[in-house]
Amino acid sequence: MLDKSPRPAVSVPNDLAAHWMPFTANRAFKKNPRLLAGAKDMHYITVDGRKIIDAAAGMWCCNAGHGRSQIAEAIGKQAAALDYAPPFQFGIPQAFELATRIADLAPSGLDHVFFCNSGSEAADTALKMALAYHQINGQGSRTRLIGRVRGYHGVGFGGTSVGGIVNNRKLFGTLLTGVDHIPATYDRDKQAFTKGEPEYGAHFAEELENLVALHGANTIAAVIVEPMAGSTGVIPAPKGYLKRLREITQKHGILLIFDEVITGFGRLGYAFAAERYGVTPDLLTFAKGVTNGAAPMGGVLVRDTIHDAFMSGPEHMVEFTHGYTYSAHPIACAAGLATLDIYRDDKLFEHARAIEPKFADAVMSLKGLPNVLDIRTVGLTAGIDLASLPDAAGKRGYSAMETAFHDNDLMLRIAGDTLALTPPLIISEDQIGEIIEKVGKVIKAVA
Ligand SMILES: Cc1ncc(COP(=O)(O)O)c(C=O)c1O
Repeated sequence: MLDKSPRPAVSVPNDLAAHWMPFTANRAFKKNPRLLAGAKDMHYITVDGRKIIDAAAGMWCCNAGHGRSQIAEAIGKQAAALDYAPPFQFGIPQAFELATRIADLAPSGLDHVFFCNSGSEAADTALKMALAYHQINGQGSRTRLIGRVRGYHGVGFGGTSVGGIVNNRKLFGTLLTGVDHIPATYDRDKQAFTKGEPEYGAHFAEELENLVALHGANTIAAVIVEPMAGSTGVIPAPKGYLKRLREITQKHGILLIFDEVITGFGRLGYAFAAERYGVTPDLLTFAKGVTNGAAPMGGVLVRDTIHDAFMSGPEHMVEFTHGYTYSAHPIACAAGLATLDIYRDDKLFEHARAIEPKFADAVMSLKGLPNVLDIRTVGLTAGIDLASLPDAAGKRGYSAMETAFHDNDLMLRIAGDTLALTPPLIISEDQIGEIIEKVGKVIKAVA
């Protein structure tokens, strides 16, 4: 019989078996867990009370730093006032306010926001929107979706299909049909140790012309790219690349989707990378930083002409048969509004932009340490490629994450043997110095 007596609160679990952790090396983790209990500003606190400096903004989320009381209070107040409201056929004022404020931050033309709960849902929503738009627009033959090698668009079937990281795809069968990929924009021989956007590589956009020639423009619905490929290990767009993609997509009537789940909300020093690059896509996905990570939320910014194309037919009919039970959840909306207040009042995007050169110089100072093959930086983001151990790809990176956390009180992210630094935007120059010193120790420790 089940024991239904109340369980005592435990701060440290003694059994880690039941929780099958996402995107985690479960067996290695459970042998030597990295358990977190609190967070404030630039730091996490472990269950045993150690203060860990956060060089990952959680997971590219907590741009305003941790433990922002304004956000916690907004969430608490909202949960007490209205815990849940159905987002289909009903609405809450906060959702409309948040959509307006996000649209105000976006390049003009991206005037509408469709809410969901994650970056994965945002990617799948944008892809479905692109297909539906062409259908409505009398171009139903446009069903092909184009992603990019090394791209990451979450874990839904759409996002996985257009994604270009082989380990994320190979277990899951044929995925969506009618998907193709343009090449990644990285060439180490030509780009190594570049600060910001590499000079070399705009021509990679021309590969889209080859896919158009192969498949026919009238079969292609959309191209989706991250303005900076994050999860694959930080690959900034080469100079002129995104502009060229925009020109080619426009020429052929193909929709351009920017996945700004990482680059949105200040990571590259602007509200959206679209602004940094002066390129306006047709659809733009966001998540993570929209609530500073404090509540799950994602969304798609939509060009007015695309939105308006849906607004036809009988007015009592649903125009876009898509949405989630938790789209524009009251708690996420409250967190989002409080987060945008902080970004504005603390001028965090401006701070990120101002401190970018110092960050880039500091990270580049690691050049020359053992096994460092390349360093890339853009905005408050850096990727450091370490040489793989023979026959054990990813092992050096994993060891680096472990020694960072356990021995150096540092949280960083890894992508294989690449270390990714993506600190909260509140970071000071001193804290940049502290992180780089620790990363240097980590690199030496795994040499
Ligand atoms: C560019 C990009 N798109 C989509 C996603 C998926 O977001 P989520 O994990 O919230 O589903 C991520 C997550 O890191 C991402 O980096």
